[in-house]
Amino acid sequence: MPSERAPQHDPRHEPVMLHDVVDALAVRPGGRYVDATVGLGGHASAILEAAQPGGRLLGIDRDPQALAIATERLAPHGDAVVLARGEFAEVARICEERGFAPVDGILIDAGVSSLQLDTAGRGFSFRRDEPLDMRMDPDGPTTAADIVNTSTEFDLAATIFQYGEERRSRRIAKVIVERRPLRTTGDLARAVEAAVGRRPQDRIHPATLTFQALRIAVNGELEQLEAALDAAHDLLAPGGRLAVISFHSLEDRMVKQFIRDHTRDCICPPKQPICTCDHRATLRDVVRGGRTASDDEVARNPRARSARLRAAERLAVAA
Ligand SMILES: C[S@@+](CC[C@H](N)C(=O)[O-])C[C@H]1O[C@@H](n2cnc3c(N)ncnc32)[C@H](O)[C@@H]1O
Repeated sequence: MPSERAPQHDPRHEPVMLHDVVDALAVRPGGRYVDATVGLGGHASAILEAAQPGGRLLGIDRDPQALAIATERLAPHGDAVVLARGEFAEVARICEERGFAPVDGILIDAGVSSLQLDTAGRGFSFRRDEPLDMRMDPDGPTTAADIVNTSTEFDLAATIFQYGEERRSRRIAKVIVERRPLRTTGDLARAVEAAVGRRPQDRIHPATLTFQALRIAVNGELEQLEAALDAAHDLLAPGGRLAVISFHSLEDRMVKQFIRDHTRDCICPPKQPICTCDHRATLRDVVRGGRTASDDEVARNPRARSARLRAAERLAVAA
């Protein structure tokens, strides 16, 4: 068990768009909520407070270090909170095992936490030279080093292109393969820099998109989100709300499409003259177009810059 506490005064540990999230979930006293990415417990704490008297929350995370901090932080809520280690793709099973369904709200604050980015030895960041790991769950089967050292050049380029949307993926994969084995975040950052150079006008480090791609691959982030959205939809009681914060366009596109598909009565191809799909809307979009953090919040916490919140409400109709 880690002894560190989440420093509450550090803006990097502030939950992103806190008030917007509580609003989007329409948290009400006595409600039953799932925080599928409980992290350091910041959102969970605010949800629990707004849900009193009588509200309960089930918090899930795959990172035991985060859960240890959340346990300590949420302890004042006593029996109103239950924490579980697991993947949010498994949210239906986790809720069912605890008799925690249907629910009035589910939050997914996807991506890495400030704890994971800032803790030495987790291997998420090129700002320190450390083993190339990137697993949110330290018991997960595959590290970033496994991927860069064992994939074919073709597969590596595909991963970097697909998950990093990095146009220079082939050049990068070629240099990575030439330099194998790569052991540390520094080895990888230097390989990318050798492949694509670093121009003074670049706003971000040239390895940013490659690191994002590997992190998504290591943690199966898109597969997890896809499964969690479907499960969350089915767990919601009529009037229950789903809120999702995503930090990159691949996730946000998935959430946007998911909400679009479930808020329409017909999903037939637009050119088809007669509806044959029998599809009925089961959700209502409650934050049209999504919401981003305020300038003030971004100034305090630069990580909030890329956050986009989307939310939907379950309709009282049969699925
Ligand atoms: C951005 S942080 C959440 C911060 C949290 N909302 C708070 O207020 O402190 C994301 C958390 O979700 C967890 N996580 C990401 N993907 C996950 C998944 N597929 N299953 C379970 N936990 C996941 C990470 O381990 C991390 O702790």
